Amino acid sequence: MTDEKISTGVAGLDEMLGGGIPQGQIVALMGSCGTGKSTMSLQYIWNGLQKGDKCIFISLEEDEDAITKSALAYGWNIQPHLENQNLTLVKLEPSDAKSTINRINSELPSYIKNNGVKRVVFDSVSLLSMLFDNDSDRRAGLFDLCKHIKDSDATALFTAEVSSDNPNISRDGLVEYVADGVILLRYNETSDGSDIQLSVRIVKMRRADHSRRIKPYNITNNGIEVHSKAEVF
Ligand SMILES: Nc1ncnc2c1ncn2[C@@H]1O[C@H](COP(=O)(O)OP(=O)(O)OP(=O)(O)O)[C@@H](O)[C@H]1O
Ligand SMILES: [Mg+2]
Repeated sequence: MTDEKISTGVAGLDEMLGGGIPQGQIVALMGSCGTGKSTMSLQYIWNGLQKGDKCIFISLEEDEDAITKSALAYGWNIQPHLENQNLTLVKLEPSDAKSTINRINSELPSYIKNNGVKRVVFDSVSLLSMLFDNDSDRRAGLFDLCKHIKDSDATALFTAEVSSDNPNISRDGLVEYVADGVILLRYNETSDGSDIQLSVRIVKMRRADHSRRIKPYNITNNGIEVHSKAEVF
């Protein structure tokens, strides 16, 4: 573990974090659907690829083709990086729970280590959580995954859905406790109800002197832009 900060690829968010994510940490990126969790995860990977970092994007949602297209829509052509294997995209099948969990536990740790992977994305751990039959297996599964990543040099982003009852907590109520950091994405209606405003807050980040303020962000043709100098409302 070093004092190095890993850029999220979003300048305004890096500023809020005091430079970036402390190297080696696992960060939960939480928000309801459409808040930009997958976009920000891709942006984090794209930033790593520009620096020559080996990256792995594990998806339980979209397949390789859909992810490649989503990235390209933001101007991020990941195809060459897939070809030269700086980026590995893995689509796990939620329908085949047992083999998915087995693959994660048996293949992922050695893959990360053997390939010197620096950045890991797991999109989403909420879907992973649902593969377990009960709470104790779920807890053990998530702890194991985190342990494997912590034993490596990689810095990870885990996306997570929030609870429909409370947009401040994850649906499984677990990931925020196992993660070192929590970044919360929200949308609120503007006071006249005619529009929505997206906002981001860093709930926790171990070993980082981070901002606790809520800042507005947008999703644009170039990805996520956090306006760290602006105030919400
Ligand atoms: N070029 C663009 N300009 C502005 N907004 C965009 C653009 N492309 C996508 N979006 C917005 O970003 C949203 C998609 O974000 P993303 O898929 O990253 O969200 P998510 O949090 O991962 O959602 P889910 O929970 O469904 O997986 C779209 O619903 C759309 O509102
Ligand atoms: Mg998504």
